[in-house]
Amino acid sequence: MKKVFFDKIGIIGVGLIGASFALAVRERKLAGEIWGYSLSGKSSQRALELGILDRKVDDLAIIAQECGLIVVSTPVLTIPGILAELAAHVKRETIVTDGGSVKSFVYDAHKLFHHKNFIGGHPIAGTEKSGPDAGFSSLFDGSCCILTPFRDTDEGKLEKTRDIWEAVGMNVVAMSPEEHDSVMANISHMPHAIAFSLVNSVRGKTVSGNKITTLAGGGFRDFTRIARSDVVMWSDIFISNSKNIISSLEDFEESLRRLKRIIADGEKSEITDYLEETRLVLVNNSKK
Ligand code: NAI
Repeated sequence: MKKVFFDKIGIIGVGLIGASFALAVRERKLAGEIWGYSLSGKSSQRALELGILDRKVDDLAIIAQECGLIVVSTPVLTIPGILAELAAHVKRETIVTDGGSVKSFVYDAHKLFHHKNFIGGHPIAGTEKSGPDAGFSSLFDGSCCILTPFRDTDEGKLEKTRDIWEAVGMNVVAMSPEEHDSVMANISHMPHAIAFSLVNSVRGKTVSGNKITTLAGGGFRDFTRIARSDVVMWSDIFISNSKNIISSLEDFEESLRRLKRIIADGEKSEITDYLEETRLVLVNNSKK
């Protein structure tokens, strides 16, 4: 792995992703100092107290002027506005990347930066928790990070962005923003939508005065853990990737209709065939 080091790294939005990135950088000694900014200043203050940051900054322009690498890790709908502000102040050599779960905004963002400073990113690693207290340095270990460079992206900046995500433990792949948003709708955004909808569908159901969710075992818990995820983060994702998510949900509805028909028919062999065909997808996945 290539050595990479920045004198100052700036984190915009010091929640789960921003704090975990800062902790991973700190543990691996990839920066001289880590500065952080958050909207109300509360999470950056907390991150300072936790020793995640070296300095809390209340002015985005200062981070833009002083930090060699800036990582924007705020809810998706806030990212374009933050990038516009950063673009007005960054130096020629500064690299700006982000951790947003949807990448449709990166075309406009790319155009904003006169020195091709921006490289869109998305570390595919997370939990249902949020805020700086939820951060941990091994969050990114062994997971995949998607970058969305363009044909005219600055090669040197792209390489350094790849190096830093690799240095915090990630396997970096590149693809177009459209590919990213379509893939993520299938493997992340749709499962979250289904988990939210599943929990919502049993809301208020009771038996003998008990909410049925209080009787649930491991199956329900495993399937619905992600429905505890942050409300702002997920409403931003649903809004900004709505077309792809709706298309994935339509495929899902089709598959669900097929399963409902098979269950209604009550043919055991048909049911086992469906379950086996499904199980094999996951078995074959884990062999790769
Ligand atoms: P979080 O809720 O833990 O942290 C977000 C932080 O951004 C908070 O500190 C908040 O104060 C700050 N913030 C909100 N609006 C802001 C603004 N306008 N200006 C400055 N700071 C602002 O969220 P988390 O989970 O760290 O997510 C951050 C980004 O990473 C989101 O874009 C999300 O889609 C993406 N992501 C999240 C993953 C997850 O599993 N949580 C996984 C991969 C990407």
